[in-house]
Amino acid sequence: MNALAPSGLVAVIGSGAMGSGIAQVAAQAGHTVLLFDAKDGAAEKGRSGVLAGLDRQVDKGRLTGTEREAIAARLVVAPALAALADARLVIEAIVESLDVKRQVFSALEEVLATDAILATNTSSLSVTAIAAGLRHPERVAGLHFFNPAPVMKLVEIVSGLASSPLVLDTLYATARAWGKEPVRATSTPGFIVNRVARPFYAESLRLLEEGVADAATIDAVMREAGGFRMGPFELMDLIGHDVNFAVTRSVFDAYFGDPRFRPSLAQQELVAARWLGRKTGRGFYDYGADASKPAP
Ligand code: NAI
Repeated sequence: MNALAPSGLVAVIGSGAMGSGIAQVAAQAGHTVLLFDAKDGAAEKGRSGVLAGLDRQVDKGRLTGTEREAIAARLVVAPALAALADARLVIEAIVESLDVKRQVFSALEEVLATDAILATNTSSLSVTAIAAGLRHPERVAGLHFFNPAPVMKLVEIVSGLASSPLVLDTLYATARAWGKEPVRATSTPGFIVNRVARPFYAESLRLLEEGVADAATIDAVMREAGGFRMGPFELMDLIGHDVNFAVTRSVFDAYFGDPRFRPSLAQQELVAARWLGRKTGRGFYDYGADASKPAP
């Protein structure tokens, strides 16, 4: 089982929370990484965010200045999708929408070599459906990182119906080479983690909607007494309510409206208000100007 060679060019599409983090992981592992985002200035912003994080690592003595410079030099903003032509592995981390992901994958087929691997970081969508309609659906698979990608060890390697064993093995070995703990899953709504996590969010939201306790109390109970690293509300604020709500919706729809997965009206309101969590400065908690500070 061979990992992608360190000389293999990696491209990441979408430079939000996940894309930037994944780009950092690949660049730290020694790859040159092209970062592309459809929104003007977003890839530059994503790159600056990564560099600021590396600076903090240097300050803490976890990284040398020379290592920081080398990683920064390997992380390159791509001006257009066409600039990704030489990539051996493309990791898509854009909006959680099947239609948009399919459009991006078919555009990628036009520019990439036929044996380049196309991976999606989708949290919940069918990898089979993302690949369907492509000329080479066998080179598509899920490579699902967790937030924040540079810190979280787990990566789900998700097989669609058409995914080739060689592609899956390469992704598995690559995740290992990048210091991650890969686990294999088949393309089912939410895979392993996001399926198990749905009731964690849903029951917490129901407790809040029923007025049983406030968000801070539920978070503290789960964190301090329950042993979870983060409570459900601070975790949803970290993930982003737009992303978390879209994932729940997609799992709910994919399980034919199973009430276990019904999305929350309270969360729908947060999305409508653009109170998306840390990334917009407000979600269940108010982060003021500093979205990087921990939830109160
Ligand atoms: P985000 O909203 O922070 O970033 C998405 C980025 O994609 C934005 O910069 C946007 O401009 C860009 N984008 C949208 N459409 C595009 C297109 N057609 N071409 C190029 N760029 C485009 O989203 P986030 O949180 O980074 O999530 C991205 C993906 O990762 C989603 O599929 C999500 O389900 C998945 N994911 C999210 C996690 C989280 O905790 N937020 C955890 C694991 C997976």
